[in-house]
Amino acid sequence: MHIRPLDSTAFIQYNGASRATALFSPWTFSTQTNQTMRLDKLLSNSTGISRSEIKKAIRQGKVKIDGSIAKVASVHVNADQQITLFGQTVNEPQPRYFMLNKPNGYVCANRDAEHPTVLDLMLDVPLYEKLNIAGRLDIDTTGLVLLTDDGNWLHNVTSPKHHCQKRYIATTDAPINIDSIDLFKEGIQLKDELKPTRPAILNILEPQRAELLITEGRYHQVKRMFGATNNRVTSLHRAAIGEITLDESLAVGEYRPLTQTEINSIQ
Ligand code: URA
Repeated sequence: MHIRPLDSTAFIQYNGASRATALFSPWTFSTQTNQTMRLDKLLSNSTGISRSEIKKAIRQGKVKIDGSIAKVASVHVNADQQITLFGQTVNEPQPRYFMLNKPNGYVCANRDAEHPTVLDLMLDVPLYEKLNIAGRLDIDTTGLVLLTDDGNWLHNVTSPKHHCQKRYIATTDAPINIDSIDLFKEGIQLKDELKPTRPAILNILEPQRAELLITEGRYHQVKRMFGATNNRVTSLHRAAIGEITLDESLAVGEYRPLTQTEINSIQ
């Protein structure tokens, strides 16, 4: 599955000046220390390219350390040295942030024995397996999924304390009762939960279709909220998380890097 750039900024962020960010991260030791690492190990860890390929590149003179061609793979380097591979600088790691338009039938997990995972749609992202899913969706829920390797940012999206708003579009089995608006606003006591849900906003769009804004991420929350009103969600789509809205130009199964504005919108 291929990446689709949102605009020139996003495109540059991924494919242009800082493509090395996506290709050559993470730098696996901190710049705050004087730690060193074998050149081939560092390059392999940072790029996802196998050690044998890296060694070949070194033999071919394609790796430079501070402007001089590296002679051996076993030399130790530190984070202050400028290392290039095929002429591209191996930068310090920059965290990566993506949005994905999740298809039905995919699970939000890093691995699954039975079903394809959202990460299977991102195999062309170097070190895709290091990405974490910021707010999981059920297998049959479609729409916006955020992925990142920035732990703090992930926390801000998912921590219950941050009350990050999620916007869902739900289609239901039966017409939505108008009383649900007040019930959802007041909070619903779901089975096996200690506290009622936080106030939620329900906008009924059609008799059996509504927008729901919630600021939590409890297990099957939307389905259980409608269930508590004796209704059943037949399809569910996440349209937004905070100010990040699913890019309509992304086909189902496609992903793109977030823009800086989108990244900054999560605090
Ligand atoms: N609520 C649900 O019930 N399912 C989801 O996938 C997300 C929110």
